[in-house]
Amino acid sequence: MTATLPPAVSAAPSSLPALTTDRAPRPRTFLMCPPEYFAVEYAINAWMDPSVAVDAAVALRQWENLRATYEALGHTVHVLDPQPGLPDMVYAANGAFSVGGIAYGARFHHPERAAEATHHAGWYAANGWRRHHEPSYTNEGEGDFAYVPGAGVVLAGTGFRTDPRAHGEAQDVLGVPVLGLRLVDPRFYHLDTALFVLDDHTICYFPGAFSARSQRALRRLFPDALLAGESDALAFGLNAVSDGRHVVLPAQATSLAGRIAERGFTPIGVDLSELRKGGGSVKCCTAELRG
Ligand code: ARG
Repeated sequence: MTATLPPAVSAAPSSLPALTTDRAPRPRTFLMCPPEYFAVEYAINAWMDPSVAVDAAVALRQWENLRATYEALGHTVHVLDPQPGLPDMVYAANGAFSVGGIAYGARFHHPERAAEATHHAGWYAANGWRRHHEPSYTNEGEGDFAYVPGAGVVLAGTGFRTDPRAHGEAQDVLGVPVLGLRLVDPRFYHLDTALFVLDDHTICYFPGAFSARSQRALRRLFPDALLAGESDALAFGLNAVSDGRHVVLPAQATSLAGRIAERGFTPIGVDLSELRKGGGSVKCCTAELRG
């Protein structure tokens, strides 16, 4: 079945030069987990409220649309089997972080999610990843790690979930320098709620989510970064996935989508409103496999 792409979110103002042609997308491979058992039964982040009803059927439809969007863009999506009793497993980004064929496994901060790590590790073992490293320290995979290939650096969040000692461990395991960043706002509890990688050299982030020192480090390393505002971050706009040209982001993040378009990228808005009730959106549902 061929999926149709949702329409791109409205483009840049016409006074700006059209840059879209320079942006070369690179095909990606993703791991996702359908929200078959999705629910908000506990509250482990500021967005979760167990008294608010969740429509699992709508969640599944929205998730299928995200998967179809990736496939229509030419990306490969592998699917991890969801497990009863693990309602947050849909947020597959948290299960590991991989660079250059090496996967650094996750160890969850909250006991409610601890068992997810084993299912992720099992997937890597069953799918030919001979280098999957069991972590000694708490870390929530791509929730708190982002790779910027052109800068040769991994950006790593801490403050709410990932133990800073995992930053050093990831550097040892993956052989890539890791820059630790401190998150200070509980609404943006994972790095991927406040920062994403637009292309091999460029990042987009909401400075207010980071400590003053971390903001300074980001400014020095990425003077050309696209800076998002608080309203963009609250719309989960930073929880986005870019292939270097197409930027898949929550449909509600319209103002950030416009600014992304001004930079010559093609924003593609998808509605994941049900999954937002668990405190996640596009990126949380997507683990990139860098083989
Ligand atoms: N309810 C999940 C948690 O609090 C949401 C995880 C979102 N994932 C992410 N990569 N930010 O752990």
